[in-house]
This record gives sequence, C-alpha cells and structure tokens, in this order.
Amino acid sequence: MKAVLLTKHGGVDSLEFVDDYPTPSPAGDEVLVRVMATGLNQVDQLILRGYPGIAIPLPHIQGGDIAGVVAGVGPDVQGWKEGDRVLVFPIRTEPGDELSAKGLDNLSHPWQFYGMQIKGGHCEYVAVPQRNLVRLPDNVDFGDAVQLGVAGLTAMHGLSEKVGDVKPGQQFFIWGGAGGLGTIAIQLAKLKGATVHAVASSADKLEAMKELGADFVYNRSEMDYEAIGNAVRGNAPAGIDLILDYVGPGAFQTNWGLLAKGGTMAFCGILTGVETTIHLQFSYLRQLRFKGYYLGNRPDLEQLVALVADGKIKAVKAAEFSLADAGKAHQFMDSNTGIGKVVIRVD
Ligand SMILES: NC(=O)c1ccc[n+]([C@@H]2O[C@H](COP(=O)([O-])OP(=O)(O)OC[C@H]3O[C@@H](n4cnc5c(N)ncnc54)[C@H](OP(=O)(O)O)[C@@H]3O)[C@@H](O)[C@H]2O)c1
Repeated sequence: MKAVLLTKHGGVDSLEFVDDYPTPSPAGDEVLVRVMATGLNQVDQLILRGYPGIAIPLPHIQGGDIAGVVAGVGPDVQGWKEGDRVLVFPIRTEPGDELSAKGLDNLSHPWQFYGMQIKGGHCEYVAVPQRNLVRLPDNVDFGDAVQLGVAGLTAMHGLSEKVGDVKPGQQFFIWGGAGGLGTIAIQLAKLKGATVHAVASSADKLEAMKELGADFVYNRSEMDYEAIGNAVRGNAPAGIDLILDYVGPGAFQTNWGLLAKGGTMAFCGILTGVETTIHLQFSYLRQLRFKGYYLGNRPDLEQLVALVADGKIKAVKAAEFSLADAGKAHQFMDSNTGIGKVVIRVD
C-alpha cells in the first residue's frame, strides 16, 4: 500500500513516500479501513521533530485522523461490512478495558493514540478494533470528518460537562481560534450559549472567527498577551468563566488573571513550553480550577459527528494535500497561515 514513512526525526526530508508498504490484515475484532482522508495535527509536527519524552519506533506512520470506508473485517467482527463509511476514534485500548467500556477511554491505561504510539492514517489502510469505529453519515465528507477525529474531539471534550462545562450566558475565551481546534471550539461555545472571545494573528483569521460566531476577536500580531488580557477584561469585566488553552507558559499569567471567580482553565497543549508558575493565593481567593485533559471519549466524537451531520457545526478546511505531498502539508501547517484543518486526501 501507499504510505508516508517517518524514517528519522528532523524536518520534512525525514518523510518518505512509498507504494510497497505491507497492507495490514484485520485480526479478530479488527476492521480494515481504506483511508480516504487524514489530517495533520500539532502532535504530528512534534513527532516529526522528536517528541520530548516519548520514543517512537521508526519507521513510523503519522496521522491520528482517519476517515474512510470498511475494506475488510476480521472473523469476530459484527455489524460492520465492506463499504460502510467510518471515522476512527483515535484512542486504542486493550480488549475488555473497563474504562473504555464505560466511555472513559482517555482515562484508561495503557492506551495508544493512532499516529503516536501506534501507526496512524498517513497511508492507504489501517486495521482498527471495531469498537474504534464511528459511523459516518453520507452527508459528512471524509475531508470534513478528519477535523473531528482529533482537534474537534478535543474541543468537544474540553467544553463538555466532564471538563469545562461552559453554560449559557458564560464567557468563553480561546487563543488560536482560527486553528483546527479553535474553529470547532468557537462554534461549540456559541451553541452552548456562551459569549465567545477568540484570538488569532491576522485580519483574515479574525474575520473567519467572527463568521463562526465569535463575539469579540483580538489580533495578537497587533497586541501582546498583556494588552489582549486588558482588552478582554474591558469586554468581560467579571472575567472569563472558561478558558480552553494549549498555549501554555507564554499565555499562562494572562489566562490565570482573566478567570472569573470560580472560573476554569481547561488545558491540553504545550505550544510555548511545559513549565510555569502559579499564584496560589490568587487561585484560592478566586476559587479557580485547572483541568488538564487529553483528547476525549467516544460519546464526544459521536455527538460531534451528529452535530456536523445536522448542520449545527461546520468543519473548516485550511488546505488539502495529496498523500504524496504530506511534506508540503507539514510545511503549510508550519506557515501558520491556514484557517481550520490541514487535510490530506488518500484517494
Ligand atoms: N491534549 C490533547 O488531547 C490535544 C489534542 C488536539 C490538539 N491539542 C493541542 O491543541 C493545540 C491546537 O491544535 P490545532 O490542531 O488547533 O493546531 P493549529 O491548527 O495549528 O492551531 C493552533 C493555533 O494556535 C495559535 N498559536 C500558535 N502559537 C501561539 C502562541 N505562541 N500564542 C498564542 N496563540 C498561538 C495559532 O493561531 P494564530 O497565530 O492565528 O494566533 C494557531 O492557529 C496544539 O497545541 C495541539 O497540540 C491537544
């Protein structure tokens, strides 16, 4: 099969497009998925360069986003047949995993993330357990679906009752509102009735965020973190109830200072580093909550797919590349000019 192999850590010259990689066979309860579209996430960029603290066996196949059709089934599979349209839930757990059975996959241990601890979707075929399949309605395009698998799932979980639990009338804030995760988070926060404050770094991104429903937009190419914090405070004097953050140390003090009494920071990324300081007294006086989280759970993904199928949320495509051009897709993501999700077609 065709595949893009990561042969060493470094730049895009570490990626090798091949057409003779062995096609996996579905064993037991596995389903063979013919990948129609996959995507790029920041984690793919980290893995390309060498993920701190995680050894990835090489050669590796990247891609946590996998949308396609069933192309074969293992002997124990029930309820799935060739041609079914599917989106793959990106966390693989062991058979019989109790937390997974309760819909709490991301709390299970050990678990594996497609494209990270196990090979992902930057190829033609992937064998996945049938419990990882989410049925994809005919009106959801494969290219749109890949935004939901990882970035959308993480936005959905971050705003859900289990993490951020944003409520009607509350204030919601996000940096990178024009990114793969941000474009979904803005729409979800609006659906939940929140007032949305979103940041991006160019005029066209600000415009796109407004079209998605953001009430207040801020341009970080014109203001530093502190100035943005002051501008947000001007629009939300009582503070922000939920911040969904993955910027990390660079924005942490601004974020923490922006939270309303009883506010929450839902945290899921390390764009600017891994350590920060925290003003403990401020934290308890204002009764703040810091909630780290990872990806999400199957029910989050099923609900998100239904919202897209019902036309309540739309996927936003930054650019589309062919599998052979996966390196160009990485370079495009590096340019930080896109709005929404970088999609790789595997037609
Ligand atoms: N833990 C998890 O489960 C999980 C899952 C998915 C994603 N994530 C994390 O979520 C983040 C976003 O993912 P994504 O797919 O949306 O990526 P993306 O499409 O590249 O969007 C990231 C956005 O962050 C903004 N940004 C970059 N550097 C920044 C900085 N120093 N300060 C403020 N904003 C900055 C950029 O927007 P502007 O330049 O326009 O401001 C960019 O659009 C990544 O860090 C990723 O690792 C975590």
